[in-house]
Amino acid sequence: MMRMNNKTVLFAGIIPVLLYAACGSSQNDVPATVTFTEHVAPILYSNCTFCHRPGGSAHFSLVTYEDARRNGGAAAYVVKERIMPPWPADPHYTTFLGQRVMSDRDIAIIEKWSTEGMPQGPADKMLALPKYPVGSENGTPDMRIPVQPFFLKANSNDRFLLVKVPFELPADTFASLIEFVPGKSNIVHHVNGDMVKYEFDKKKNVFDGERVLDMAEDTASLLQAFQRLGLPNDDGTYPVLQKSVVNYLPGAVGQKYPEGIGGYFLPRKGVFLLNDMHYGFTNKDDVWDSSYINVFFAKTPPNRPVQEFQIGTLSSFGTAPVLPDLIIQPNTIKPVYSKYTIPEDISILTINPHMHLLGKSFKAYALKPDGDTIRLISIPRWDFNWQYFYTFLKMLKIPKGSTIIAEGVYDNTRQNLNNPFSPPQLVRDRNGSMKATDEMFQFIVTYLPYQPGDENISLEHK
Ligand code: HEC
Repeated sequence: MMRMNNKTVLFAGIIPVLLYAACGSSQNDVPATVTFTEHVAPILYSNCTFCHRPGGSAHFSLVTYEDARRNGGAAAYVVKERIMPPWPADPHYTTFLGQRVMSDRDIAIIEKWSTEGMPQGPADKMLALPKYPVGSENGTPDMRIPVQPFFLKANSNDRFLLVKVPFELPADTFASLIEFVPGKSNIVHHVNGDMVKYEFDKKKNVFDGERVLDMAEDTASLLQAFQRLGLPNDDGTYPVLQKSVVNYLPGAVGQKYPEGIGGYFLPRKGVFLLNDMHYGFTNKDDVWDSSYINVFFAKTPPNRPVQEFQIGTLSSFGTAPVLPDLIIQPNTIKPVYSKYTIPEDISILTINPHMHLLGKSFKAYALKPDGDTIRLISIPRWDFNWQYFYTFLKMLKIPKGSTIIAEGVYDNTRQNLNNPFSPPQLVRDRNGSMKATDEMFQFIVTYLPYQPGDENISLEHK
């Protein structure tokens, strides 16, 4: 009960700021008459049409006047509530690359337009739609590996899959970038992909085993799943698994870093293991999805390969568990945390908070040995659908001896509209099960061992 009150106070702190901003000075800048071609289209084109266009990741378009008028009321609501554009992280806490946050003025314009008859405006003021890249946002890949095509029936619900994408190369090599490209971008929801790296003579055939497992039906435990996918070496031992090599969310493709940073060793024999490949619901038609993975080779070995650790469920060290245990009784709000003291200076590149459907809020920060706090991320309203790998503007130095603390709150009441059970049931983590109806609490950090000057290196895509 106490904790719940703390949480309420936290929200109370945020809401007035937003309200103040919305009713404050911004109103003055809004034109007396707002039209689609002059005012609304430019806002939609810079904030929405990347996803809301034919062939984009959303189910409906906001490109033409007709499109926008049909969805104008809904658009005004979601921008006002800051549900869209999707960006769950609080921009007042920390700033990230490519963050999608609209200005109060732009929100006020959409709102005014939607309540004042949604006029079209002069046709000659209409902008051209920006050009959106096809196939890859990063040029022509050196290799394209197909993901097993997947069939979804009409009107089917969300599916969560574990997908094996094996590959064999003529020789060991290096990649500067690996990216997942969705086939049907409006149903492929997100992917977190790891790479299994084989020693050449320990695995005869990487193409053995099943290719696709449904997390909801097929997998009691991760180890069993790995066996069915044929991942172990021929002698039953396990090869190296490198985490988070190929992640995808609409609008967040492939982690590309400045020259000399990042990159991956690609073994002759390997498997991309797409964890938690999430297909959203389908409309009235059957669909086949044929996604693929693009690989861009590196000319030289990466001199600073990306490293990663995770705390919480299945923590990298076994020493940073979820506390207290992730067992969430029905009709309760449950706070948990996990912490880890880092043994060396590191430079953080990206962070990824991870919870499932009962997630309510998430916060992470580092406590330096001198007592100062380094802010990492605050997500006041958890959104299961938008679990970004957030990239800092510049590498973020965390000094040795700092403790990274991640705090999450779960809502297992009826008030949580995403609660998969009605009435609420006991939910917990089970052997690191990735089923959306089991829970997880993880904070994933990709980093490099610190080098002097890192804090000045911009991570902006070049
Ligand atoms: C990064 C991709 C992305 C961006 C950017 C984006 N959307 Fe969305 N939007 C989605 C997806 C995905 C959905 C889920 C439903 C779907 O697939 O259509 C959605 C849903 C919606 C919905 C329906 C909400 C509901 O509850 O079903 C509205 C309205 C909407 N978006 C408006 C906007 C507006 C207005 C903007 C710009 C200010 C915007 N979106 C920006 C991807 C995006």
